[in-house]
Amino acid sequence: MKAIYLVKNGDPKKAFELRDHKIESPGEGQLLINVESFGLNYADVMARNGIYNDAPPLPAVLGYEAVGRVEAVGSGAEKFKKGDRVLAFTQFGGYAQQCVADSRTTVKLPDSISNSAGVALATQYCTAYYAAIRMANIQPHERVLIHACAGGVGIALTQLAKWLGCEVVGTAGSDQKIEFLKEQGVDYPINYRKEDFATSVRAKLGEHPVDVIFDPIGGKTFKNGNKLVRFGGRHIIFGVSSWSGSKGNVFDKLKLAWDFGLMHPLQFLLKSNGVIGLNMLRIAEQNPSVLGDVMAKVVELADQNILIPHIRGEFKAEEIADAHHLLESRNSIGKVVVNW
Ligand SMILES: NC(=O)c1ccc[n+]([C@@H]2O[C@H](COP(=O)([O-])OP(=O)(O)OC[C@H]3O[C@@H](n4cnc5c(N)ncnc54)[C@H](OP(=O)(O)O)[C@@H]3O)[C@@H](O)[C@H]2O)c1
Repeated sequence: MKAIYLVKNGDPKKAFELRDHKIESPGEGQLLINVESFGLNYADVMARNGIYNDAPPLPAVLGYEAVGRVEAVGSGAEKFKKGDRVLAFTQFGGYAQQCVADSRTTVKLPDSISNSAGVALATQYCTAYYAAIRMANIQPHERVLIHACAGGVGIALTQLAKWLGCEVVGTAGSDQKIEFLKEQGVDYPINYRKEDFATSVRAKLGEHPVDVIFDPIGGKTFKNGNKLVRFGGRHIIFGVSSWSGSKGNVFDKLKLAWDFGLMHPLQFLLKSNGVIGLNMLRIAEQNPSVLGDVMAKVVELADQNILIPHIRGEFKAEEIADAHHLLESRNSIGKVVVNW
């Protein structure tokens, strides 16, 4: 049994090694899964670059999600049986031929959903669903602003928002992505490399133009975006991609804090709006059954063709460096998948 280990930070060509990997039998409530496909997430790139706080110590097997077949069932997980085709949230350990997963964050996958679409559902679609439905509680006719709108989570947020009848403003960093956003039904696509998104949104839509912002960028994008939120609005911060490329030193940390800007709880009271942080790892730790419920819901919506993951690239395990390179290049639109 093999796994792809992250052995050092930096260049993807030198960072990974395919190594023998010994795995424990599944404990109580756990499943042993023969992995067929696993997905990449932007957090993997940050972990590889050594700037992801939640990353396990090296050498480590990354990976938040896997699709495969159940090989063995631990006690208390008998709602699954050997041979079931499943999607599992793995909370690291996904880049492996076998993984052990919590049965509460594993769902059966219908044959209508491909392996690649399945891995897209676990982290990116569940993050989007949790953010949009449980946290922001988006409503028909609300206007939502989605940053990194052509990324995996961004596409998922767009599909959920359109399904619920919202108007969507989406930002992306290339004309190719803008064309893709138009195809996805984004009402106001903005190439933030060509125009300042906040100025552009105000010019098109007024002084307090959005009900909800979904922000995985942080820093100045957060500060400038926050001023656009209407009374009663919600600003969901679920990533800090602007931290990419930083050296992680004290000066970079101070700059990031400065870019975010200072906030006081009273200002939320006065404006009757709020900022909510989302980290799915914390949800998985304290509320695994809630994550399981969300997984079941996104699988159901994908089975009904309401949610349709967009697959940007499929790679073999030995091409892991190329897969990482694609994700880091910011040219990817949708999910990057690796198959064993
Ligand atoms: N909190 C959670 O639980 C959770 C869960 C999943 C994902 N996330 C976060 O959500 C974000 C998107 O994830 P994803 O899986 O959708 O990733 P993705 O598909 O790789 O999309 C990321 C996109 O972010 C945009 N971006 C903007 N500024 C960037 C920067 N400085 N560096 C790199 N990319 C930048 C890029 O698109 P443009 O060039 O078009 O802007 C890039 O393609 C990441 O920050 C990730 O860590 C958080």
